[in-house]
Amino acid sequence: MEKIIIAVDGYSSCGKSTLARSLAEKLGYTYIDSGAMYRAVTLYFLRNGILAGEEETALRNISLRFSRPANHTILNGEDVEEEIRQMYVSNQVSQVSAIPAVRRAMVRQQQEMGKEKGIVMDGRDIGTVVFPDAELKIFLTATPEVRTRRRYDELRAKGINTSMEEVRANLLKRDHIDSTREDSPLRQADDAAVIDNTRLTRDQQLQKALELARAAGAQENIAG
Ligand code: DC
Repeated sequence: MEKIIIAVDGYSSCGKSTLARSLAEKLGYTYIDSGAMYRAVTLYFLRNGILAGEEETALRNISLRFSRPANHTILNGEDVEEEIRQMYVSNQVSQVSAIPAVRRAMVRQQQEMGKEKGIVMDGRDIGTVVFPDAELKIFLTATPEVRTRRRYDELRAKGINTSMEEVRANLLKRDHIDSTREDSPLRQADDAAVIDNTRLTRDQQLQKALELARAAGAQENIAG
């Protein structure tokens, strides 16, 4: 059975992981949250007080993997899935992600994970840098208002104490840094299909993506 690579990119909090996760489930593919990898590196840097110039050495001491089947982010053997979603990590992750040495190390690991295909990866540079030859590239968008509300509800549901203003400021700041950094900025790949999910339900957006996936050669998992 032919397997393909699906790249899902877009701004912060526009529902990339929700879409990528359910798409992977439907297709029986592996889902990789590349943002979680940058968040885990950020957590390591914060905990260990890594300063400019020390990144290369620090990166050699970082081992990242995802637990199966729960898909939790594991940093040097520790489950950090909850910790990496905290606001203090969100507030620093774009700065850390802009460091070329960090990007080189993450992109190398991500490309390795995609060698067997059958993968859905979400992030900012997946269709442009990590898998420029991906059979399907989706660029997700939604208005800042809708993105703020969704992220706020998600954080509150997890018991994380925050305000709409803080969430909005954080995501606009990350959008700005992510799309203006010098090394592999967030941008829509020329051959990406755009899905604006501002007025779509989760199921409607999934159906659109599944249509695109089928057209790109993916076959649905019978068991899924
Ligand atoms: O998807 P997320 O919001 O969890 O990602 C957190 C940050 O990681 C995001 O603000 C920018 C960075 N990131 C990146 O630079 N490249 C990726 N492929 C994924 C995320």
